[in-house]
Amino acid sequence: MIKINIFILLAMFSYSECANILYVIPFTSRSHTIMLKPIGLELARKGHNVTVITGRLEKTDLPNYHQIQIDHKEIWEILGTERPNVFTMTEISAEEFHNLILWRGGLAFTEMALNSSQVRQFLVEDNKFDLVISEQFYQEAMYTLALKYQAPLVLVTTFGNCMRHNIATRNPLQLATVIPEFLQLTDPTSFWGRLRNVYFTFYEFVWWRYWYLVEQEQLAKKYIPGLPNHLPSLYDIQRNVSLLMINSHFSFDSAIAYLPNIVEIGGVHLSHSIEKLPKDLQTLLDKATDGVIYVSFGSNVRSSELPTDKMEAFLKVFSEVNQTILWKWEDDKLKTKSKNIVFRKWFPQKEILSHPNIKVFISHGGLIGTQEAIFHGVPIIGVPIYSDQYNNLLQVQNFGFGKILRFDDINEQNLRNKLIDVLSDNSYQIKAKEVSNRFKDRPMNPLDTAVFWIEYVIRHKGADFMKNPALQLSWLSYNMFDVCIFLLLVLILFLYLIFRVIICLRQYFLKNDLAKSKKL
Ligand SMILES: *[C@@H]1O[C@H](CO)[C@@H](O)[C@H](O)[C@H]1NC(C)=O
Ligand SMILES: *[C@@H]1O[C@H](CO)[C@@H](O)[C@H](O)[C@H]1NC(C)=O
Ligand SMILES: *[C@@H]1O[C@H](CO)[C@@H](O)[C@H](O)[C@H]1NC(C)=O
Ligand SMILES: *[C@@H]1O[C@H](CO)[C@@H](O)[C@H](O)[C@H]1NC(C)=O
Repeated sequence: MIKINIFILLAMFSYSECANILYVIPFTSRSHTIMLKPIGLELARKGHNVTVITGRLEKTDLPNYHQIQIDHKEIWEILGTERPNVFTMTEISAEEFHNLILWRGGLAFTEMALNSSQVRQFLVEDNKFDLVISEQFYQEAMYTLALKYQAPLVLVTTFGNCMRHNIATRNPLQLATVIPEFLQLTDPTSFWGRLRNVYFTFYEFVWWRYWYLVEQEQLAKKYIPGLPNHLPSLYDIQRNVSLLMINSHFSFDSAIAYLPNIVEIGGVHLSHSIEKLPKDLQTLLDKATDGVIYVSFGSNVRSSELPTDKMEAFLKVFSEVNQTILWKWEDDKLKTKSKNIVFRKWFPQKEILSHPNIKVFISHGGLIGTQEAIFHGVPIIGVPIYSDQYNNLLQVQNFGFGKILRFDDINEQNLRNKLIDVLSDNSYQIKAKEVSNRFKDRPMNPLDTAVFWIEYVIRHKGADFMKNPALQLSWLSYNMFDVCIFLLLVLILFLYLIFRVIICLRQYFLKNDLAKSKKL
């Protein structure tokens, strides 16, 4: 009898701990979903009632994992433009990348998500949520859902530190070492690097705050019913975020000071990964005793769009090596005589990288893939194409477990040199294992860390005490300008007094001298 009572008590206890959570991850890019999906699933496994607004449905039999599907369209379809060959983006600046892709795409994407029939229907239903979690990726209109449901707001990035969030929440900016996520800088700490950083940070912030967020606000008001009449601005909503989880870790990304409500969860999708390789691939990899080279430029960049000369350079060099090549290739047209190359449209990447026979990963340096290589200690040869890829690969190269191969520099000779270098010099392997070890060496794995802080915010009803008290201050006080001006005035007064004293003394002595000379 007592046993049963304890059971009921336990059940009641765990029930009261379970929350209704809305998880908004509408961006349909495959890599984003790979990183974000495990958080929602883990919350559901912990017993929370999780509702996910998503672009990619998950096959799961968890009864407390509800999915609201947004229309699945590629960003190019929404923008109404031809899908460009993504390899042409290697030349564009951070400003152009924001104007052409991120901001235009972000607005179109947000509108499409909000206008999806399942979402529209969901938004008129009478639901209650204890917490809203949203991806932070140019879809700020979604943050108003926290006000609709009167719940604390948690954000999560797929790209690491977010400069706009740092400014909004008054996290120290550290502009001498910390750059916005999509700015490419060879040496951020040099004078020109820091100058470029200050310029771009300012540029991005002004456009974001005074144009982009205003556009997002319009979308929120147009599509989300039941918002409070006096809706705070999206900027104020972001300032008041309870928790930001970022996809980085100081063992690979740089060491940065963060407020307690900014938490690093880099590697979150690798924590409880239990998926196995399919049998055919397992056999293939087991048999490749000379090692395997894995080639993939990620979900958005297509190998099949490589210019012919570069493609032939790859094929030529691959035909010369003894390793087996696994190459993510998106069409069926390519013919090659080399028996050691295996083409597939998609590979289970993290499982492939976990195989001991993998010798090198030829990659575009996307963050998710880079983290998978770090986790499994695999050296990288990286061809950066756009966004944060160059920065990720620069870090890989600086840490000594990979090499950058500029897209324009791809030719037979360069490729052969880089490949032979990375395959034959085992320092790359050693460094890769070293970074892997420190990436995994944490008090708690990143998935449990994410779940802990999410539940923490629920337990403490938004955990307002974690927010920076500097948010209450005016801009003048926060930057200490009032104090500086006061000190400056004191200094001026002090100098003035000294000046007066010197004048007085001078006059006094002059008088004395005059008197003396008169006496004589
Ligand atoms: C779980 O969330 C769904 C909304 O997706 C809601 O309809 C359902 O009532 C919730 N269940 C509980 C037990 O709160
Ligand atoms: C919203 O969706 C409806 C159909 O579901 C469509 O007719 C309309 O054009 C869409 N609006 C926008 C702005 O995409
Ligand atoms: C490939 O294997 C053969 C036979 O084991 C060996 O002689 C040759 O040097 C290897 N080639 C390379 C590029 O390692
Ligand atoms: C900030 O968020 C908390 C919950 O975390 C909420 O209680 C409070 O009303 C919000 N304040 C503003 C100004 O939005």
